[in-house]
Amino acid sequence: MARCFKRRARGATRDPMAASIPVTRHPRRPPPPMVSLRLPHPCLPILLSLSTPPLAEVRADRVSLVLHTAYHAANSPWGVRAWRWHIMADGKRAGTISLRDGHSHVFTHLLGHIGFAVDAPFRGQGLAGLAVLALLPEAARLGLDTVWITTTPDNAACRRTLERIGCTFVEAVPIPPWYATYGKGERTKLRYRLAAGSESHPGRRNE
Ligand SMILES: CC(C)(COP(=O)(O)OP(=O)(O)OC[C@H]1O[C@@H](n2cnc3c(N)ncnc32)[C@H](O)[C@@H]1OP(=O)(O)O)[C@@H](O)C(=O)NCCC(=O)NCCS
Repeated sequence: MARCFKRRARGATRDPMAASIPVTRHPRRPPPPMVSLRLPHPCLPILLSLSTPPLAEVRADRVSLVLHTAYHAANSPWGVRAWRWHIMADGKRAGTISLRDGHSHVFTHLLGHIGFAVDAPFRGQGLAGLAVLALLPEAARLGLDTVWITTTPDNAACRRTLERIGCTFVEAVPIPPWYATYGKGERTKLRYRLAAGSESHPGRRNE
């Protein structure tokens, strides 16, 4: 009895048979991989586009776009990531075009993703349409696959520009009283959709 007590005190097993069973040490299992490399994570394209810097210059047929400002959401006039380019024609600044990376109702229904203006002396050459088409691959590269462009029913030049470059007219929507241009008398927005990227657009004007 005294001998048995002594063995236990030294940490020996209670089962004398167990002591004779050899202990097999298994090699340590490798940890599971943190990320599956077979399929890219669905967020990867978004994360990559968020870190994609804009091109300083986009060259296209008859126009080029020279980056004027790249906004972070914090310093953007629209509260979202955005960019503004000069529209250049024959080496001269002819207007401006903006791209806004917003996805709320304001961007899809009221303000749109793209806004543009051509300075009065340069109008009549279809430069706005050319600038929008030039911007599309860059918009796709920056993460916008579909862009919404809006205008008002009385803006015939803008409507014609959008139709000419192959935008799809989707609908007319009421402007809510809380929206800034309501106070200026605007009541209706026309929503046009355009696929970004390098697909061909039926109305693309290359002459
Ligand atoms: C809209 C704007 C950018 C278009 O400039 P632009 O590229 O020089 O456009 P153009 O003058 O070449 O006109 C484009 C088309 O509209 C037509 N158009 C122009 N003014 C028009 C008018 N008052 N009524 C009907 N059609 C008109 C042109 O005939 C042309 O059609 P076409 O391609 O069949 O020849 C320019 O008028 C502008 O800066 N306007 C003020 C800002 C603005 O409204 N921005 C758009 C916000 S959605």
